[in-house]
Amino acid sequence: MAGGIGSRFWPYSRNSKPKQFLDVLGTGRTLLQMTYDRFSKIAPDSFFYVVTNKNYLDLVKDQLPGIPENQILTEPLRRNTATCVAYATYKISKNDPDAKVIVTPSDHLIVQEEKFHEKIKLALMGCEKNDRLITIGIRPNRPETGYGYIQYYSEPGNHVKKVKTFTEKPSLKLAKTFLESGDFVWNSGMFVWKAKSAINAFEKYMSEVAEVFEEGLAYYNTDEEESFIKKAYSLVKNNSIDYGIMEKSDEVYVVLGDFGWSDLGSWLSLHENSKKDKANNVVEANAILYDTQNSFVKVDSKKLVVIQGLDNYLVNESDNVLLICKLDAEKQFRTFVNDAKNKG
Ligand code: GDD
Ligand code: MG
Repeated sequence: MAGGIGSRFWPYSRNSKPKQFLDVLGTGRTLLQMTYDRFSKIAPDSFFYVVTNKNYLDLVKDQLPGIPENQILTEPLRRNTATCVAYATYKISKNDPDAKVIVTPSDHLIVQEEKFHEKIKLALMGCEKNDRLITIGIRPNRPETGYGYIQYYSEPGNHVKKVKTFTEKPSLKLAKTFLESGDFVWNSGMFVWKAKSAINAFEKYMSEVAEVFEEGLAYYNTDEEESFIKKAYSLVKNNSIDYGIMEKSDEVYVVLGDFGWSDLGSWLSLHENSKKDKANNVVEANAILYDTQNSFVKVDSKKLVVIQGLDNYLVNESDNVLLICKLDAEKQFRTFVNDAKNKG
């Protein structure tokens, strides 16, 4: 899934080049490429599908030249992850309804890849003989409200555990209760299932989406696929797979993951995962800092930046925008982006 816009990383992440296409960690590889690298150790190029907005087709082709072009699926509109998953799943099922599918975001950091691969293999085995919808769960360390929370039956000795409840993006109060209870893990946003199990779930819980994409079986892999998809996307509503299926289904299972995971969803999480100086600043700029700590300074131009007296601030100049705000101002980014658009 590589069609999000990463608005909480603005202005570094822009509509024209969202964060999955950026080398945000300075590793020489973009987040999309890092995701590809991680999975290419367990799957050949011919197994990869990338779903992205049509505006990003050239970016994907440039960054992942090995992936067959007809497996880069382009979306005419942004309709969120349920639609993105439905498109890929129905198309894959046309060739092989029993295909096991790993659904993954393209903008996460995973530190211990071998451990990660082990968990993915457990999930692949766990969905082989049944209709399970398997997620990878991560032990939470803060009452984050941007994630899904999973409560599961402990079933010691079982690697694939049945899920009791799935709550997408809870209120802060609820997230605190979940965290304190110790019974919950975060949904990592990675899913493993057979194509036909996902289709059963679409039919049961998102029948309006199932109806649309099922009609596409006549068109996938033909010259008419693009015009069909254009129509399909105009018909379906914006919804995420988490609200649309994971919260509702009683076939949800979880494999617990402990491989060093971060969503890299915001400046704060990027700060946590980047190299810092002695005063806990991330500095990617030609900068002189006085009495400044816990801050993130990223200025792409060659401008000399002189800063005094900041604590917990973000200073980011990217392209034609300079943003200075609290490093944890996450919740306000939607407003920043909208207001900036209106200002022109
Ligand atoms: N192709 C496509 N089209 N991709 C999309 C679209 C879309 O319309 N919308 C989002 N994506 C991609 C994003 O680029 C990202 O890689 C992934 O799908 C997940 O979308 P996010 O928008 O980042 O979701 P989220 O972070 O709010 O929530 C999800 O991930 C959390 C963990 O990071 C949920 O699954 C949560 O339950 C989960 O905790
Ligand atoms: Mg995300």
